[in-house]
Parts: sequence; C-alpha cells; structure tokens
Amino acid sequence: MIRQERAVAFGPGRVNIIGEHTDYNAGLALTFAIAQGVTVTATRIRGGSVRAHAIDLDQQDTFALRAPERADGWRAFVRGAVAELRAADFELPAVELEITGTVPEGSGLSSSAALEVALCLALIAVTGEQPPDAVALARLCSSVENIWVGANTGLLDQLAGLCSEDGHALLIDFKTLDLRPVPLPLAGSSFVVVDSGESHSLAASGYNERRHECERACEVLGVATLRDATRADLTLLPELLGRRARHVLDENDRVLRTVEALRDGDLARVGECLDASHRSLHEFYDSSTSAVEAAVERLRRAGAVGARMVGGGFGGHVLALFPPDAKPPADARLVEPGPGGHLL
Ligand code: GLA
Repeated sequence: MIRQERAVAFGPGRVNIIGEHTDYNAGLALTFAIAQGVTVTATRIRGGSVRAHAIDLDQQDTFALRAPERADGWRAFVRGAVAELRAADFELPAVELEITGTVPEGSGLSSSAALEVALCLALIAVTGEQPPDAVALARLCSSVENIWVGANTGLLDQLAGLCSEDGHALLIDFKTLDLRPVPLPLAGSSFVVVDSGESHSLAASGYNERRHECERACEVLGVATLRDATRADLTLLPELLGRRARHVLDENDRVLRTVEALRDGDLARVGECLDASHRSLHEFYDSSTSAVEAAVERLRRAGAVGARMVGGGFGGHVLALFPPDAKPPADARLVEPGPGGHLL
C-alpha cells in the first residue's frame, strides 16, 4: 500500500443510447461514457478537515473529515463521498479537493455520477488502498446520491462512468449486472446532443415518484421487479401503473433490438428504436416537457434518423443520431464513446 500525496482522477459523463428508467427495474440499457466529465485533484493536507473548491463555481466548502454534516448542491456529493468511503473502511486523510468539470449540471448527461466517480477514485488513490471492484464502487457512488443528495437513482450512470470502454457502448443487464462492450459501427453517422434549455433536478423532479410507481406496480403483481412481469400482467394493473410498466417492458425489448440493429449496421433501425423510446417516455412515462419536445422536433427536422431525451427526463439534453449526409443544428455537440473513470 503506497500512500500518495496527490491524486488526480477523471469521471466521465454519459449518454444513454437507449434503456431509460430500466436500471431501477432490473432491466437493460445501452450506454457510453463521453469525453466531457469532472476532474478531481486530491492533495493531502495537515489537520482533520476536508477543504473543497469547486473551481468553475468559485465556491468553497470545509468540513470535519470524521463527521461531515449535510449540505446542498455540489457540497452534498463531496461530503457524501467522504462519509461513504469512510463507512466502507477507507482510511481517508485530511485533503484539499479541487473540482472542475465540463458536463453541465442538470443536463441529463450525468454530471452527478461524473463527480461521484472522480471524487471516489481520487480519494481512494490518496489512501494508497485498492479500489473495490467496479460494481461495488458503482454501488458506493450511487449511495452518495441516494443518501446524501436524496435522488433515489439506480446504477446506470455509475456503471457507465466506471465500466465503459473507449470506442464502445456498454450493454448493462441490471438483473445479473452482466456488462458487455458493444462495438458502435457508425460508418460516418454521429450521435449528437442538444440542450433542451430546461435544467432538471432529479431529487426534485418526478424521478422518485416514477420509481415509486414502478414499485407499486410490482406490489400489485406480486413480482420482485418489473423484469419479472409479463405483457399479460399489464392488464392487471390500474391505468397509470400499467402505462409505467408498459414503458419498462417495451424499453427492455428496444434495447435488444438496438443492439441487433447495430450488429447489422442498420442505423435506420437504431433511429426507429430511439424515436419509439422517446414516444414511450412521453406517452407512457410522462417524463417529457414542452422544451424537450421542441428540441426533439428540431433535431428531426434537421434530418436526424432518431431522437430521444436522455437521462432522468423532465428537461435536460436530447440525443439524436445523424446520418453522414445531414447537418446537425449549430448548437448540437458531438458525443463519442470514451473510457470509464480513471486516474490521470
Ligand atoms: C438518471 C438516473 C439513472 C437512470 C436514468 C433514467 O440518469 O441517475 O439511474 O434511472 O435517470 O434511465
């Protein structure tokens, strides 16, 4: 065990190609880490405090290493990461943390997991201890968000942020936690994102409510997760819960259809899956907004073969697949699959 004076770690944002609101339903998703993310530099200091500096926001935080108290915003992530790592028996020293990032907050591109991953990797590195395996570390990062931020999110963003492979998408089965890299033969087509202009906050938006509705659907059906529900079961549910469960069941199928279409190099079929996913999120999951709908429409008019909201919904970014001969709007940003979180 070699303790370090200083460690620098990068946690990426992610784009979810398809498989939305499936992670907490033991379903499937196809995702990739992007080049934009959060970088955390951890430097040992004397004393018993953690000093954190969010450089882009020009804000600071200082708290007791042994007993972080609750806070809001980015501070909740930092305090939560320190507390959860300590609870997992990492011997964290007093540190100064410098945080800087390129994923816009509340964008649906997983700025939260990018921050959690970068914080945990940097903090573990200064201890000199071995990080736990990726799934265990993803769970730890997720508990920062669940316990300290109050967003009852699943494991999608953390697994994407830790386990993605450069140039590949990652197929995740949340029932078995089987992770499979999937090549992305885009042949000149490109994935882009545009900002709907509406920021979302997962804890405050309908996210926790949707999760609760899915749990209620499981209770009614007497199944542990919606992965165990069948199409016939949908008729046994009250209307609202039936629509939520219908989205989840169809979305799992669409993930598999997208993987097949990619394998066949059939990007038109990938586009159809993206469109169908978006329609379902809008009609069955009620997680779209007028700003998101406008962004989707704009992308389709510009020639996208498919477009859909990404992440928790209720605002944030829209993902679109553009064929080689169409020109994305000027505000669109190219997103390409990069590696998972790592030390720099
Ligand atoms: C957010 C959450 C994820 C996942 C998506 C929806 O990004 O953090 O766990 O539930 O929403 O697919």
